Amino acid sequence: MPTRKPFVGGNWKMNQHGAEAVALAEAVAKKFTATDKVDVAVFPAFPYLAPVGQALAKAGSGIKLGAQDFYVEPNGAFTGEVSLSMLKDVGVKVVLVGHSERRHVIGETDVLINRKVRAALDGGFEVILCVGEKLEQREAGMTDCVNMAQTLYGLGGVKPEQMARITIAYEPVWAIGTGKNATPIDAQSAHWRIRDAVKYGVFTGGEKGESIGNAVRIQYGGSVKGSNAAELFAQPDVDGGLIGGASLKADEFVAILDAAAKKQ
Ligand code: 13P
Repeated sequence: MPTRKPFVGGNWKMNQHGAEAVALAEAVAKKFTATDKVDVAVFPAFPYLAPVGQALAKAGSGIKLGAQDFYVEPNGAFTGEVSLSMLKDVGVKVVLVGHSERRHVIGETDVLINRKVRAALDGGFEVILCVGEKLEQREAGMTDCVNMAQTLYGLGGVKPEQMARITIAYEPVWAIGTGKNATPIDAQSAHWRIRDAVKYGVFTGGEKGESIGNAVRIQYGGSVKGSNAAELFAQPDVDGGLIGGASLKADEFVAILDAAAKKQ
């Protein structure tokens, strides 16, 4: 069984303006330096990517710069959109795709999400593909079905050699921003089935499918805090987290990173 290095992302969503965003990045970079133990990325809003990236570089931090979104086409008449090469220009290394707010608030489809995953991989980026069931789907007993289907759609056509740049984030929609996190057992159970979808669905089993599935990192997201991170990260298939609200406070985010650093 491969050892998977924990990976924690701070998704700032539509929060933090100019100086606050830079100060937050500086504080996290100063307080957490163990990027040899945990991969870390922060995802500021578009206007602050460049200054946050500069602050991280100036601090000599191993924290990666991430973008919350992008458009699939390389350039052209797409008013309001931002291309992958523009993100590359400002130092972005990792992108989010399929976040529940983009699926369910903005209306992105599985087809667009798959195009985005493949465009970002072809452009040399790391990708965090987010999946997760809504409350009514969980109550109808469809949790694994939804997560596995979103994983299969999202990763369709991805080449085996690109999988090292994929992370999956399991974010149950009912747990996002609600203060109600999945129990560690529920998270483990969902992660295990998502890993199976990679092993036997995206790739068709055998030694290759199993080794790709065993190597892919699966983050948990949804009301992770300093106080519950350790028990979630202690689960064997939980390889870190994607953090919203708690990533806006340096001390709280660093407490989560410290918990990830302790995962064996
Ligand atoms: P919260 O941590 O605020 O629940 O948000 C999770 C999330 O959506 C991260 O992408």
